[in-house]
Amino acid sequence: MSARGNFSSRIGFILAAAGSAVGLGNIWKFPFEVADGGGAAFVLIYLIFAFILCFPVMVTEVAIGRKTEKNPIGAFNALGFRRWNIIGKFGILCGVLILSFYNVVAGWAFGYFLEMIVGNFGIGDTFGTFTSDIVKVGGYAVVFMLTTAYIVSKGVSGGIEKLAKILMPTLIIMILSLVAYSFTLPNAIEGVKYYLVPDLSKLTNVNTIGGALRQAFFSLSLGMGALITYGSYLSKKENIVSSSVMITLFDVGIAFIAGLMMFPLVAYNLGGEMSNVQGGAGLIFVTLPGVFETLGGTLGVIVGGFFFLLLSFAALTSTVSLLEVPVSFVVDEYKMKRTKAVIIMSAIIFIIGLPSLVGNGYSEFFTNAFKLPGGSTDFMTLVGYITDVLLMFGGFLIVTFAAYVWKKENLAEEISQGYPGFNDSIIKKLLNFCISYLCPVLLALLFVMVVLNNFF
Ligand code: PFF
Repeated sequence: MSARGNFSSRIGFILAAAGSAVGLGNIWKFPFEVADGGGAAFVLIYLIFAFILCFPVMVTEVAIGRKTEKNPIGAFNALGFRRWNIIGKFGILCGVLILSFYNVVAGWAFGYFLEMIVGNFGIGDTFGTFTSDIVKVGGYAVVFMLTTAYIVSKGVSGGIEKLAKILMPTLIIMILSLVAYSFTLPNAIEGVKYYLVPDLSKLTNVNTIGGALRQAFFSLSLGMGALITYGSYLSKKENIVSSSVMITLFDVGIAFIAGLMMFPLVAYNLGGEMSNVQGGAGLIFVTLPGVFETLGGTLGVIVGGFFFLLLSFAALTSTVSLLEVPVSFVVDEYKMKRTKAVIIMSAIIFIIGLPSLVGNGYSEFFTNAFKLPGGSTDFMTLVGYITDVLLMFGGFLIVTFAAYVWKKENLAEEISQGYPGFNDSIIKKLLNFCISYLCPVLLALLFVMVVLNNFF
């Protein structure tokens, strides 16, 4: 065991990486992106992208991390390609920016948990008032950041792995129980249809395609070196390909199930009129409390509390991975003590997150002053777009680097440790094809498409 720490088991690594992947992105963002992106067509494209474009990036990230046992900047230096450490620099910047707003939304989820357990179901109608109550949401954001910092300070196997081993199975049980419940509601089937029967005309819609790719990268925590970091704590005995398959299936599976839970609830709320569905960041925060209320007193409190607790848990295993990226960087490169690194980084990120915190109603400027082609937007949405695009670009650079700079043979050599038959397998041929041609070409094209579509 190295001084940096290690995952103590394969399942620990898989659960921690899946914990990073599964988060607000799956339960909060995925359903509203589906609603914004046109329903089932979005889901279909998202699934295809996750497997053909994202999975190869994941394998590459984990392999680079494990080979070098370094953070995302140190990894490129250790391979001897210092100039390419720009990928890691962007990655760390991206991680810092994502955590800065992610922590705010995680705070809302935690706040909603507290509101549900005291039976305040009316909160859904006053979501805007809730997010502008700076004392409350600020307090929740502080609590969430402190919890994240505490776990990261405990290190890899003692903090991150332990947390994931408890929370991930709990989360699955919670979410499946909610799916079962949502299916019993009137009009559930309308929601399921909206979610699963694609409108074929939308398959060529630029918004749908771009949104699905952005969502896939964000949801799988790819393109910024989070999995380089987690891979750096992975033992040489483990099979990177099968672990990545599990992580991808886990993440996509949970997003899929979250949709199965969400759309029947939305359909129930809308009386089956799915043409009235409204996406947007408020989807679960506005719609769900009302649904829980209809369950009546104690049951509503239990199911509602349960749901938002689940959301907070899912967020926590992701905030932990987001903080671990810059922390591993300062621990490795500046030989700083983990605890000190955690305190400094979480304080900086919290401060960077202040505009996102006040930009949901409290400060008029940060709520409306930013322009995207679709109209004015809030600071958090803007940062969300920028980081989504950076993740895609990071993914493009990572596969291009592996295929043409570090070279496929070196990547294959790393993968074959822990996967002895890899070099003679069809998987290797497929992976090489994806990394050398499919991913760089498609990611470059889609990147240009998304940038033009969203920013010009
Ligand atoms: N994948 C997380 C989610 O879906 O909520 C968000 C995320 C975590 C993105 C870690 C990037 C990352 F490095």
